[in-house]
Amino acid sequence: MRGRIPDGFIDDLLTRIDIVEVVERRVPLKKAGREWTACCPFHDERTPSFYVSPQKQFYHCFGCGAHGSAIKFLMDYERLEFPDAVEELAQSAGLSVPHEGVDNRPREDRSGLYQLLESATTWYQKQFHASAQAQAYARERGLAEQTLEAFRIGWAPAEWDGLIRHVGHTPEKLKVLEQAGMVSTGERGKRYDRFRGRLMFPIQDRRGRVIAFGGRAMGEDTPKYLNSPETPLFHKGRELFALWQCKQVSGALHRLMVVEGYMDAIALHQAGLPIAVATLGTATTPEHTERLFRTAADVVFCFDGDRAGRDAAWKALDATLPRLRDGRQAFFLFLPEGEDPDTIVQSEGKAGFEARLKGATPLSEYFFDTLSHDIDLTSLDGRARLAERARPLVARLPDGAFRDLMAQELKNRTGTDTRFENAPAPAASRPLQQRAVRRTLVRSAIALLLARPELAGELEPPYAFAELDKPGVTLLLELIEVARARPGITTGALLEHFTERPEAEALQKLAVAEPVGDDAMQRSEFLGALDQMQRQVDLQRIAALQVRQVDGTLDAEGKAQLRELLSAKSRGTPAT
Ligand code: CTP
Ligand code: MN
Repeated sequence: MRGRIPDGFIDDLLTRIDIVEVVERRVPLKKAGREWTACCPFHDERTPSFYVSPQKQFYHCFGCGAHGSAIKFLMDYERLEFPDAVEELAQSAGLSVPHEGVDNRPREDRSGLYQLLESATTWYQKQFHASAQAQAYARERGLAEQTLEAFRIGWAPAEWDGLIRHVGHTPEKLKVLEQAGMVSTGERGKRYDRFRGRLMFPIQDRRGRVIAFGGRAMGEDTPKYLNSPETPLFHKGRELFALWQCKQVSGALHRLMVVEGYMDAIALHQAGLPIAVATLGTATTPEHTERLFRTAADVVFCFDGDRAGRDAAWKALDATLPRLRDGRQAFFLFLPEGEDPDTIVQSEGKAGFEARLKGATPLSEYFFDTLSHDIDLTSLDGRARLAERARPLVARLPDGAFRDLMAQELKNRTGTDTRFENAPAPAASRPLQQRAVRRTLVRSAIALLLARPELAGELEPPYAFAELDKPGVTLLLELIEVARARPGITTGALLEHFTERPEAEALQKLAVAEPVGDDAMQRSEFLGALDQMQRQVDLQRIAALQVRQVDGTLDAEGKAQLRELLSAKSRGTPAT
């Protein structure tokens, strides 16, 4: 497992790179005052409403609301996941990414493995073009020239050491071949090619790099498919075949479909449905579902209608439940026995397959139907049994409207009411989520600090205003903490510390607004807001002491405090 990337590294990285350059390399920008602008790459538009701010190191689109740091831009623009976007930026800045945790040794250099697999891929492709047998098989399976190219399909000749001879026999080369899972070892230590006489499907990672292969035997040879073993680059419970190809298609990806076989995914792409990915001979894992939902909001699981398909579907459901945050939806599509997506799309075409997709079963329906298939719901007993089965599963759904709906559905079907406690929202997030609110003091202070993180450098702990019992104060303190610890931090980098938090959206919205006035005015507004907060702390204290005074429980020390607070209040200055 790779450990977490330390926050400090993210900060360093974001100070070394310039968001304007990162964006400019992908989207040509025009200068507009202090900022840069372009037509937004995240939605269709004719007049530019996409702005990149070099000061804030932050981009924002006034049309569709897309916004974030350079990391977020890469994640959205190149559809990378967070660690990959960081990796990509680090490479462009000549840095290597450290990882915290279990293993603190410097990360091994894997570039030799990637190079070897890349070279094997091109070699297999070349062998394919030289093999009449391979080409005949591809034709028989209906693979078009363009598909062969897009998936980089190749051919491993039926020889013991074709690849070994291509790569070279030296002990170093053999070691890399071994690490990459490309050779097997015989009884007397003799190495030979793992893949022989097979049609080769390269398995590409999220960034398009080849990390493993699946090889299809000709005719009835066994095993029908042979895959690379687990290697430092390849963990089959995490990877999805053809996901890279899905991401290459321009435009937003709203839907992905999970199928079982390489040929199923490929046939769907070829038929004009570039939304298909395949698991690699394993059940769907929670890592798969997380990756799927990060790429598209709707995921359709497509399985054979037989017993094995039903089992696989339930496993997929199990891996999906904890990921079903609001806005994400899962569907199940079962095919007639004896068919698979490859055969269906070949016989029914794109339109036929799409019609089936439209009729896919929503997760909720599949869930309740499966759980009650052997239960008599007309009996009290049966309904109790369904409730008992469903409750622990519904409890695994994340908080939100979908879970409430499922709980309601369970109630409708069983007559039993189940309350699922929602986790309380973190105190700091509540105020910012209440949209209508005016700019409160705390919000103004946060907005100003986001625009001018260097203002935090003017403060010295302990902060008197910290005791203010108002929403958002804890968040403000955290922001001050981060900004003080990292002089020179930009708005974008500061926000990056809060991306995983429920407050992230609200913070980004606040960061977009340009505060009024020049630097000096912003500074005095910020310090003034903190002063006023401190006065409110005094008022809170006065109120608490006065309650005790009325109770008769105020001691001498308390009385002295109250006197001082009241006189400070009449002077109009905070008491410290
Ligand atoms: N699989 C595997 N090892 C096997 C058999 C299957 O890893 N011995 C995986 C492969 O990823 C394969 C998928 O399971 O693509 C589905 O297998 P199956 O339904 O048997 O094959 P199809 O995809 O239909 O393959 P084909 O159409 O080439 O017969
Ligand atoms: Mn098949």
